[in-house]
Amino acid sequence: VNLASAFAEAGMRVLVLDMDPQGNASTALGIQHPSGTPSIYDVIEGRNTIEDVVKTCPDFDSLDVVPSTIDLSGAELEIATLDNRTELLKEAVDSYIAATSKKYDYIFIDCAPSLGLLVLNSLRVAREVLIPIQAEYYALEGLGQLLKTIQLVQSSFNPDLDISMMLVTMYDRRTMLSKEVYEEVQRHYPQVLLKATIPRAVRISEAPSFAQSIIAYDPKSAGAIAYREVALEIAQRGAPVHEK
Ligand SMILES: Nc1ncnc2c1ncn2[C@@H]1O[C@H](COP(=O)(O)OP(=O)(O)OP(=O)(O)O)[C@@H](O)[C@H]1O
Ligand SMILES: [Mg+2]
Repeated sequence: VNLASAFAEAGMRVLVLDMDPQGNASTALGIQHPSGTPSIYDVIEGRNTIEDVVKTCPDFDSLDVVPSTIDLSGAELEIATLDNRTELLKEAVDSYIAATSKKYDYIFIDCAPSLGLLVLNSLRVAREVLIPIQAEYYALEGLGQLLKTIQLVQSSFNPDLDISMMLVTMYDRRTMLSKEVYEEVQRHYPQVLLKATIPRAVRISEAPSFAQSIIAYDPKSAGAIAYREVALEIAQRGAPVHEK
């Protein structure tokens, strides 16, 4: 949400697809999503198109959001027996992009942390994966497994998928641990680690309770500045080049 907002603030046209049943991305972008709200759940299940359910973030005109609701937690089971169960989001996004006059510069998909059909649907649409890594001891523990899983998805579902960015968050300059985590990631994944880091900051954790990204909530804060820096770095590296 913070990166999407940073891009939107800079005039880019951005779409955020909330694919997490918890709907934290919807909340933080100012879109209410009580159970029953027309949402990505209805899109996945074919009752609505993205056009029907998309909203605009109150803070940025060029930032659109497809909200999720807690109902989405039932989708995993409800779509499990469909033949096209991994293609549902792709079909919806492809027809929306073909139909809408909006020309998005960036589309972000926020995923839930565990791999299921919803994440598979997301990885089927995505070209790039950004993995946020908290600068804490346990953060690296699941990373190798996560990468293996994504590579598996890559080979069977989406050869165009690139694990192209890792972003160290909750970075605390005063601790050795933060520095060590950063250096560890850099040692293993030098090509994808973004140079900019996100500091641990109370303002960042407060922003969602005001239904705002840090960019809107406190534009001059260290957190907002850091997210803008990351957005710039991503913009400057451009789209991934495929050799496959
Ligand atoms: N840089 C930061 N400084 C302080 N708090 C942060 C920072 N980044 C995130 N938080 C807080 O940590 C919590 C989790 O953040 P976030 O929702 O981004 O994590 P997540 O990995 O998406 O979680 P989940 O896996 O449950 O979806 C939130 O309450 C958020 O406000
Ligand atoms: Mg999340």
